[in-house]
Amino acid sequence: MTDSRTAEASETAEVAAAPQALRPHAEESFAGELRALAAVDDRPRPERWRLSPWAVATYLLGGELPDGTVITPKYIGPRRVVEVAVATLATDRALLLLGVPGTAKTWVSEHLAAAVSGDSTLLVQGTAGTAEDAVRYGWNYARLLAEGPSRDALVPSPVMRAMARGATARVEELTRMPAEVQDSLITVLSEKTLPVPELGEEQQAVRGFNLIATANDRDRGVNDLSSALRRRFNTVVLPLPGTAEEEVGIVARRVEQIGSSLGLPPAADGTDEIRRVVTVFRELRDGVTGDGRTKVKSPSGTLSTAEAISVVTGGTALAAHFGDGVLRAGDVAAGILGAVVRDPATDGVVWKEYLETVVRERDGWQDFYRACREVSG
Ligand SMILES: Nc1ncnc2c1ncn2[C@@H]1O[C@H](COP(=O)(O)OP(=O)(O)O)[C@@H](O)[C@H]1O
Ligand SMILES: [Mg+2]
Repeated sequence: MTDSRTAEASETAEVAAAPQALRPHAEESFAGELRALAAVDDRPRPERWRLSPWAVATYLLGGELPDGTVITPKYIGPRRVVEVAVATLATDRALLLLGVPGTAKTWVSEHLAAAVSGDSTLLVQGTAGTAEDAVRYGWNYARLLAEGPSRDALVPSPVMRAMARGATARVEELTRMPAEVQDSLITVLSEKTLPVPELGEEQQAVRGFNLIATANDRDRGVNDLSSALRRRFNTVVLPLPGTAEEEVGIVARRVEQIGSSLGLPPAADGTDEIRRVVTVFRELRDGVTGDGRTKVKSPSGTLSTAEAISVVTGGTALAAHFGDGVLRAGDVAAGILGAVVRDPATDGVVWKEYLETVVRERDGWQDFYRACREVSG
């Protein structure tokens, strides 16, 4: 075989083996856990659910199965929050996950849909520009013009497809959508049907259909949920992590998962640095130091757990590629600065003040103070 033919052959092989997605869906990433749960799950399942409510909650919260399979916790927080969310999906009310940014609303919604329906992709992303088509249905205009309105010319939205299949639909950032688009969900949720007047038909929801929406606390007042729509939802508030230790645990676990999916070598003993990032974020968020002694000003950004996760993931990449593999203050300093100082005019002052009054005086934080000073300029 000549060189060129070898090259050609290996190229064909590459095309044949489907490239791995950068971020597989939850039902793919955790297919093994979902299968193991289904195998031991002998509790009653609501119609078309892949798992019983108990098994769905176990999938989210983690646990060990009788056969020794370990289910990793996806959501770290109050068990009751997850139980109420799962129980809601088994009723005729839809689920609204509410909370400040970065409290895992999207994450929980994806995993719930994956565990209940085996499909987390029936998703509508809410924005100011979301049109009614995205929630109801649209048309394939070429066919519509050629053949007139017909079932074949209709393009169902993810919500409509979920209704037809008895699956879980997801609506992200519900309150960012214009009020009239939100309201097109009222008939879907109250009558469990989607009329298609152009065809004189309707799509009725098959048993097993339900909907999970997420919304930000901070967006309240932007496009407030109408009271008619709010009544169709059971609202579950996802809280910020209660204690610093809990938050350190969440960050450490997620950074490890994200790192391994990116092929990053794990940083040796990053816990101390994670603890400092979390401490800084919590103190700035709460407006007071952990010991309750010193008041500090809060910057304009949210400084959520999700942001702590991305600061530490970025730091881990720096440590792995440009350092000695140990996560140090210098690896997270720039990330922290970027997360804290969103508005250079006001947040810059807040950050300097925090650095000089709190970080500088803290025992064992000298390396951290120096690293932050260096990037702050
Ligand atoms: N309590 C928690 N348990 C597990 N992961 C969490 C928790 N809080 C935040 N996260 C992580 O934060 C990241 C961002 O969460 P996301 O769902 O996008 O937040 P939201 O939609 O509330 O703004 C996710 O990777 C998620 O794993
Ligand atoms: Mg979200």
